[in-house]
Amino acid sequence: LYPVLKDQHGRQSTYLRLAVTDRCNLRCRYCMPEEGIDFAARKDLLTFEEIIFLSEVLAELGVNKVRLTGGEPLSRKGLPKLVKGLGRIFPEMAMTTNGVLLPPVLDELAGYGLNHYNLSLDTLREDRFFQITRRDEFNGTWRALEALLERGIKTKINVVVLKGTNDDELGDFVALTKDRKLDVRFIEAMPFNDDDGNHHLYLSHGEMLASIRERFPDIAPDAGEAHSSSVAYRVPGFTGTVGIIPAYSRSLCGSCNRLRLTPKGTMLNCLYSTKGIELLPLLRQGIGRQDLADLITAFVMGKHKTGHDTQRLEQSGNIFASMTSIGG
Ligand code: GTP
Ligand code: 5AD
Ligand code: SF4
Repeated sequence: LYPVLKDQHGRQSTYLRLAVTDRCNLRCRYCMPEEGIDFAARKDLLTFEEIIFLSEVLAELGVNKVRLTGGEPLSRKGLPKLVKGLGRIFPEMAMTTNGVLLPPVLDELAGYGLNHYNLSLDTLREDRFFQITRRDEFNGTWRALEALLERGIKTKINVVVLKGTNDDELGDFVALTKDRKLDVRFIEAMPFNDDDGNHHLYLSHGEMLASIRERFPDIAPDAGEAHSSSVAYRVPGFTGTVGIIPAYSRSLCGSCNRLRLTPKGTMLNCLYSTKGIELLPLLRQGIGRQDLADLITAFVMGKHKTGHDTQRLEQSGNIFASMTSIGG
């Protein structure tokens, strides 16, 4: 009945990044202004029923992994209920979170099959955490990290590297991988809307590696996961691994297997897409499974080989909305 989701460049979409809210309990400077963004009204968000219906169709089309993102996914009311439903559909479930709201629901979510976490943590210093996120929640994120590691749950830390803010901490983050089963990943800052115009603060993959080598000269390439967004490294003898995500230079597009759904129900086939398909009105008009499957299949077929030219976009001043409305 349903084919798999292939594009013209031979890639298959098997991984859904599902942004469940554009709201967040933090205010990272590279992500949104203090007052927040023009957050979506509740009626403009996909309901859990709509998400489940869509997910069932996507699973039929070969999607086998879902990652909950946001905003902060845990700030969506009633999230565990959605996770329970998604757990029945997708064999692999993961979440990207700042972790502050995680400890009380962690065990419940694990019971539904959510057992991979990417924790956003850009600094190991409490005062800097406040400076970057404008909220005094370092201990909240740190407690989440400890709770995850205690339970042996697969955990990665996402560090957005910002020139002049946290770029002196790369070595300290790498040191965390000595005795912890942890993947620390450094992300090239992307040119999304924010206070500081973070595109000026961007540090490249090569610059990050050079900085890490100053303290860990023998760090070496490591076997990474297939379809990972990061290039993998390890310090010989260390338990955990290190990754660099070339989010800005987009050198990993060739193996991209991702499909995105925004909180308002827009499906995107690339993080750097400027348009997608608006599924919310179609779902509310009662679109059938087969029509939905056909629409998505055609949409994935048209996926571009690589995202937009980031440098050109910046020069033209055409910077996107906050990443929180796309889901990262
Ligand atoms: P894994 O499933 O663990 O590989 O997760 P992930 O790295 O895809 O997800 P996460 O939400 O932790 O994202 C980490 C960073 O990678 C964020 O800054 C994302 O915006 C970026 N990222 C994720 N997917 C893509 C992508 O398709 N293209 C680009 N350029 N960046 C991406
Ligand atoms: N550039 C790079 N990464 C970003 N993230 C949020 N905004 C940006 C940006 N402008 C990261 C978050 C989170 C992940 C989903 O994306 O820190 O870890
Ligand atoms: Fe919240 Fe993530 Fe944006 Fe920070 S980057 S404000 S944690 S959504």
